[in-house]
Amino acid sequence: MASPSQSSELIFYVNGRKVVEKDADPEEMLLGYLRRKVGLTGTKYGCGGGGCGACTVMVSRYDPDQESVHHCAVTACLQPICSLHGAAVITVEGVGSTRTKLHPVQERIAKAHGSQCGFCTPGMVMSMYTLLRNKPKPSMEDIREALGGNLCRCTGYRPIVDAFKTFCEEQRCCQTGERGAGCCMENGYVHHQEENISEELFRAEDFRPLDPTQDLIFPPELMLMAKRPGGGRLCFLSERVKWISPDLLEDLIRLKAQYPDAPLLVGNTTLGPKMNLDGAVYPVLLYAGRIPELRSITWSSNGVRVGAGCSLSALKDALRRGTEQLDPEKSRIYRALVETLQCLAAKQIRNVATIGGNIMSANPKYDLYGVLAAAECTLHTISTAGGREVCLNEGFFTGFGETALRPDEILLAIDIPHSKPWEFVSAFRQAQRREFAFSIVNAGMRVLFRDGSAVVESLDLYYGGVGPSLVKARTTCKELTGRLWDEKLLAEGTRLLKEEISLSPAAPGGRVEYRKTLVLSFFFKFYMQVLLELRQKGVAVSAVPPENLSALMQYRSELPQAHHTFQMVSDDQSSTDPVGRPRMHQAAFQQATGEAQYYDDIPALKGELFVSMVTSTRAHAKITSIDASAALAMPGVVTFITAEHVPGQNRRLWFGNVEELFAEEEVICVGQIIGAIVAENRELAKRASRLVTITYEDVLPVFFTIEEAIEHQSFFEPKRKLERGNVEEGFGKSDHILEGELYMGGQEHFYMETQGLIAVPGGEAEEMELYVATQHAAYTQEVVGLTLGVDANKITCHVKRLGGGFGGKVMKIASLSAITATAAYRTGRAVRCVLDRGDDMLITSGRHPFLGKYKVGYMEDGTILAADITYYSNGGCTLDESSFIMEKALLHMDNGYKIPHLRGRGFVCRTFLPSYTAFRGFGGPQGLTIIESVLHEVAAKCGLPAHQVREVNMYPSEDSYTHHQQLFSPRDMLRCWSECLEKSDYERRLLAVRQFNSSNRWRKRGTSIVPLKFGIGFSKGFYNQGAALVNIYKDGSVLVSHGGTEMGQGINTKAMQIASRILKVPMSSIHVKETCTGNVPNAAPSAASFGTDAVGMAVKNACEKLMGRLEPVRKKNPGRTWQQLVVEAYCQKVSLSATGFFMGPHTGVDWERSEGTAYYYFTFGACCSEVEVDCLTGDHRTIRTDIVMDVGRSLNPALDIGQVEGGFVQGLGLYTIEELHFAPDGALRTRGPSDYKIPALVDIPRSLNTHLLANAHNPHAIYSSKGIGEPPVFFGCTVFFAIKDAIAAARRERGLSESFSLSSPATAEKIRLACEDACTAAASSLKPEPCRPWNINV
Ligand SMILES: Cc1cc2nc3c(=O)[nH]c(=O)nc-3n(C[C@H](O)[C@H](O)[C@H](O)COP(=O)(O)OP(=O)(O)OC[C@H]3O[C@@H](n4cnc5c(N)ncnc54)[C@H](O)[C@@H]3O)c2cc1C
Ligand code: FES
Ligand code: FES
Repeated sequence: MASPSQSSELIFYVNGRKVVEKDADPEEMLLGYLRRKVGLTGTKYGCGGGGCGACTVMVSRYDPDQESVHHCAVTACLQPICSLHGAAVITVEGVGSTRTKLHPVQERIAKAHGSQCGFCTPGMVMSMYTLLRNKPKPSMEDIREALGGNLCRCTGYRPIVDAFKTFCEEQRCCQTGERGAGCCMENGYVHHQEENISEELFRAEDFRPLDPTQDLIFPPELMLMAKRPGGGRLCFLSERVKWISPDLLEDLIRLKAQYPDAPLLVGNTTLGPKMNLDGAVYPVLLYAGRIPELRSITWSSNGVRVGAGCSLSALKDALRRGTEQLDPEKSRIYRALVETLQCLAAKQIRNVATIGGNIMSANPKYDLYGVLAAAECTLHTISTAGGREVCLNEGFFTGFGETALRPDEILLAIDIPHSKPWEFVSAFRQAQRREFAFSIVNAGMRVLFRDGSAVVESLDLYYGGVGPSLVKARTTCKELTGRLWDEKLLAEGTRLLKEEISLSPAAPGGRVEYRKTLVLSFFFKFYMQVLLELRQKGVAVSAVPPENLSALMQYRSELPQAHHTFQMVSDDQSSTDPVGRPRMHQAAFQQATGEAQYYDDIPALKGELFVSMVTSTRAHAKITSIDASAALAMPGVVTFITAEHVPGQNRRLWFGNVEELFAEEEVICVGQIIGAIVAENRELAKRASRLVTITYEDVLPVFFTIEEAIEHQSFFEPKRKLERGNVEEGFGKSDHILEGELYMGGQEHFYMETQGLIAVPGGEAEEMELYVATQHAAYTQEVVGLTLGVDANKITCHVKRLGGGFGGKVMKIASLSAITATAAYRTGRAVRCVLDRGDDMLITSGRHPFLGKYKVGYMEDGTILAADITYYSNGGCTLDESSFIMEKALLHMDNGYKIPHLRGRGFVCRTFLPSYTAFRGFGGPQGLTIIESVLHEVAAKCGLPAHQVREVNMYPSEDSYTHHQQLFSPRDMLRCWSECLEKSDYERRLLAVRQFNSSNRWRKRGTSIVPLKFGIGFSKGFYNQGAALVNIYKDGSVLVSHGGTEMGQGINTKAMQIASRILKVPMSSIHVKETCTGNVPNAAPSAASFGTDAVGMAVKNACEKLMGRLEPVRKKNPGRTWQQLVVEAYCQKVSLSATGFFMGPHTGVDWERSEGTAYYYFTFGACCSEVEVDCLTGDHRTIRTDIVMDVGRSLNPALDIGQVEGGFVQGLGLYTIEELHFAPDGALRTRGPSDYKIPALVDIPRSLNTHLLANAHNPHAIYSSKGIGEPPVFFGCTVFFAIKDAIAAARRERGLSESFSLSSPATAEKIRLACEDACTAAASSLKPEPCRPWNINV
């Protein structure tokens, strides 16, 4: 047995290779180990807390009892390497590669266009690969479950699902059977081929079949190791932590007595995030994952005994099997648990998280306690003092993170009983996102009746999320015992619960009124459920009215179905010309195999250091002292830099406003960078940065919200105004006047790859190379040059690719680069900066919150004569791009509507928050949504369908002028609109929605359809330019360089398609290596949906120049192959390298005169969504979305459809679930995926149909195409307005005003509170005493 003072050998396999670690570090997680020690960088870091799935790998173990190998997908970021003894790890590199052979999973995700930026792709591949290892013919449900924990910020999931569905045996269906005419399988509706309209983005017939015999086998050595009894105790030691891993229960018991304060680590899903994200250190860790007794599950005639170390997946599978075999009466508890486990975390987490760990974590957000307590489960514990039984009830949880177990006790097993014949048990939970999210409130409820009656014998109502620990509604349960299960009991129960479950308005987690409402709503649901079951069992209770049955419906998550159409290229286009064809993303194979290199995948350079930022914890304060001595005293810490160490300028001017790299004297937001620690490695740098002490003296004023900024008249200049007609005159002529406002919350970019770079000082002449994830390499170069006081010609930025950008990697990355470059400059060594997710969210900020206040004059028929809208955005503490964003909001305020008298004013509020910045859409979505809200409200006031009011106000089909006097033709917008109405079957579904609503009281549906007119190009005309460099080499291969950056949108692929068309060489001979300021200087940012327009034209220009030079050679040498021609040209001293340039339009706006050609052209579209809301919980699901988008003649329909769907889903997040929380002191609370929810697979519409408008043209852009990156984000608002429509239906039924305010995002909380009823009334009736709230709305 290893002594705790000696390190054991850690043995495991990675991709079939044996790893023997003699000095395994107990704090080392598999992710860092793979990436930095083994050099396998395919596994990505996205969050470090199990919340994104980017780091998914497969871990396999041999079970000698069952003589089988178990394969599990796990998150490498939470998997301590020390837990892997005897395991085999497979990473994306072990699955397949471009050098050997792609695995079908990799091939299919790539060819089906499921990889855009590619950062999530290895994780997706690993989740699917693991599923196939366990089940080569999975069901749709298996796939849904397997991918539920993998986030993707680019694709909208549809293409990933389409790729993986091809492994299923089940037939694929379009899900448009709702049309009333049956689905595609029956009548061929979808697959009917209109003339040159295609829906085939890839050919599944070409995919290689899955051949499980090709997979890596489980290492026989590990099998033998597992079979050998008693491996003995293992110990792994580092300077800070001792890891002890016994393999016998007795040893574990002894160790727990010896180290009572040491946590018992099993799945590491509670402890791991604390270590990774909060820097928690546990000097001794007892690993309990090797104790067989803790993993056993035994059924008896009374119930099941579950070992505390059973994973939640194993538990779920066992309980599911139990429910299939047992009498339904006996399995009610198990069914309730299975329902809960279904939504709890993700498969990767459930595979390792244990039931014991869940219980012992005593976190009220965790879901299992309520139902386990209600089910009267018994816990078996063990210690050196012997075993004992403890009842799992509210008394067991003594506080947050605390239980009644003694520190030396181990939870051995949990007894879960069968349910009794007259016992009913249910579990409820509601979270920000239906799955893969911690619950806001959860509940476990049980009632036992006297045999054959409706008289309550005993009742248990447990709630989590309404206090620091599990709460039992004791008084309510006591008072209701002995009573009949009837309306009176419901009313009394509601009254009692309202009084008993109290929450302070400052309760951690906020949402107090909502949480109180959920307490009552869950009770109502339970009442109805039990009533129904009693009635079904023949007890004389009143029937559940049919309309109330909707209280019991459960949302079942399903794999989405999609349908898309696009116009094929004309028959006379050469078959070798790729333009207009759905070509795969140029790097998709590399992305799917993990070979694609992102900045942090570059291997460590010799002597490389790491920089970690030290940020302000105050919102507005003077810095009185900075003390880095403790940090600097740590061995391995090299230096600490602040403003005084900047060799060039620490302050720079941005459109007349000062921007500081490091705060000098005063901080103006929480999260502002004050200094940076430079250390030998990242862990050290992070640890040391926490030791820097800064003292402050608070300064007034300090405020954060738009309302406060208005009070303080705190605005950035310039304030903008646009006006058409005479608004006052319009009001005078109007039948009615309406005033209102709409607030739209901000949004975090949540690109899967966090921001960062590597700065490498050159050997001479102050040269500096930067490998950086930026959308604007030229700006980064410029800022670094200014900071270092070095000319730009010595600073070179290299951008290979970005793991998503969405506007977030334009500005802030320049400052991070300058700081990192400063560190490199001072130390003379390469320095790497990789923000962790929490710092990224804190420092770099995101989309601006907006408030639109409007006054509108309209006629009886909904025609709007005049609208006066004032837009306020929260700009944060510095200007950044806020004023341009506000301009874009104003320029989009008319959307597709000809409002004769229209005035918009824009104010950017200066507050003490981190500075907001560009985000896909750039103010467009906010500007558009506020006018759409006006339309929606006018329709509600007129009592008219909203689509009718929209139609009445739309620009007519003839050429029209926008409100800024830009001439345009709305023809294609109107075509999109009418096609969308038709393709979505709008009229019929509107009737169906009304019918559904009339027969369902607690579920309501709503629809919304909106048009879109979106300006493309920069309204700052100078940015509208593009440049490229095309080199032809003597072997005929072509290297294209351009100023755009590849971040998943496919700009490189499109550039290659264009070059291929002109040069007439196959795409396989063309390569785009990177974006480099040394090759193409002064490039504009890849933004404004203009990247391809600019770059495409420039590439075309360069290629045409080359073809022009080659033409005489070709004429003289007919019949030569391309390569021969190139060689000939070379011999004739023809230059085979050409630059290309595109001078874009001279856009601009005269803000004084309210006129100007702000945009090059407009991209049009229309989108229709239908949703259903659960009025009792506020949950919703999007049933169907139909989009018709005008992208002109698409250069690549696969990429364009991908942009449309991905943008829509990002918008869906913006308008529904993505909610940022700030503490009253201005500190961002939501700093990772566990608090901030972007759409996961579960959120996307059940049916998502995207159509590219046929026969559309655009004379302005390359090959008649149109920019598409930004516009579709706005379409997420259809889900918002459809939700509002559904809520209005609920309110109408209850006799409430249909005019009510709903701010964006329409979260479950807001939906529930807007569906006012007795529960909301009860929850709000106890007026709270004033106190400091938990969060503020900024
Ligand atoms: C991304 C993510 C999402 C999640 N979502 C949810 C969710 O939606 N709902 C939900 O309920 N939970 C959720 N969880 C929490 C998860 O269920 C728990 O973290 C898990 O069950 C804990 O088990 P573990 O084995 O990983 O515990 P560990 O992290 O290994 O240990 C946790 C604690 O339990 C103690 N402990 C463990 N076993 C024993 C034992 N046998 N005896 C005594 N003490 C013991 C340890 O000392 C330690 O203090 C989520 C976790 C993550 C990371
Ligand atoms: S990095 Fe591991 S789940 Fe996000
Ligand atoms: S492709 Fe999924 S995150 Fe970019």
